[in-house]
Amino acid sequence: MNQFIAGLPKVELHLHIEGTLEPELMFELAARNQIAIPFNSTEEVRAAYQFHNLQSFLDIYYQGANVLIHEQDFYDLTWAYLLRCKADNVVHTEIFFDPQTHTDRGVAFDTVVNGIHRALEQGRETLGISSLLIMCFLRHLDQASAFATLEQAMPHQDKIVGVGLDSSELGNPPEKFKDVFQRALQAGFLTVAHAGEEGPSDNITQTLDLLGATRIDHGVRCSDDPELMKRLILEQVPLTVCPLSNLKLNVFEEMESHNIVELLRNKVCVTINSDDPAYFGGYMTDNFHAVVQAHPMSREEIARFTFNAIQASFLSEVEKQRLTQLTVNYLACFEAS
Ligand code: ADE
Ligand code: ZN
Repeated sequence: MNQFIAGLPKVELHLHIEGTLEPELMFELAARNQIAIPFNSTEEVRAAYQFHNLQSFLDIYYQGANVLIHEQDFYDLTWAYLLRCKADNVVHTEIFFDPQTHTDRGVAFDTVVNGIHRALEQGRETLGISSLLIMCFLRHLDQASAFATLEQAMPHQDKIVGVGLDSSELGNPPEKFKDVFQRALQAGFLTVAHAGEEGPSDNITQTLDLLGATRIDHGVRCSDDPELMKRLILEQVPLTVCPLSNLKLNVFEEMESHNIVELLRNKVCVTINSDDPAYFGGYMTDNFHAVVQAHPMSREEIARFTFNAIQASFLSEVEKQRLTQLTVNYLACFEAS
């Protein structure tokens, strides 16, 4: 099954570009930009990645982003991630970035978006990986800051397809960002949001009803609400689930008790994603392996994660058709060999 997973075309829909900052690049950028970091070696950095919940991760994750200053830094970060995509047979990726993490430190919005975008264009041309960019508001900050960020994104609508919502879910319900999401929708952005990761299943319902979200990021707490489950299945609302992230942040105690495969078998449109792979110990292929190791599945079931992700993506119908055919062919070839 390892060989099947390795070669399977993959589509990633939940990836924070700041969460792909590997300790090696962190050190390189810290030296290049003369930024002090509280670690002496990459081993020390990795040893510090012991999280007990979402907040304990976020504290160290925002600190790591301090080494990102110049456009080239954002380019290098994104390029390194795209090379990992190539190695994992990720054919399309929809990437989050957190502008406020950078603008609050005095880094210009344009610096961030232009650096990421330049790498994505390069990835399209030289690696054949398609991509889209989604800007997330930090939910621990206020709505006024989100509005200011949305204004800064307006001249970049050719580069940014959607807005999302991330950071501390507990205490920051979707309702807090209702108005700014309405404004984003009016301006033509698609919307997504993290919900039901640590927070209650009601955050998923609110995200659909108040934020106009077309996908839910994480959403694993949906199992607590039978009515919501029916709705997710009926409306085929995609959930961008991040299995290794959920283990590291204690959303589930062990992969064996993770609900992703049960959701798949109940016909929820679940997908597999890596969230913050540099911090959670694995990229796309590692996440697939971890799920399949704990929950034995058929090849058709594993490929369903890719089919779901293609459907849930923000690609055109033509592109969805192309990737679906690519995956159908892969499955057929593998069965025949
Ligand atoms: N920012 C980066 N990763 C996140 C996660 N898993 N949940 C909420 N905010 C995040
Ligand atoms: Zn996330």
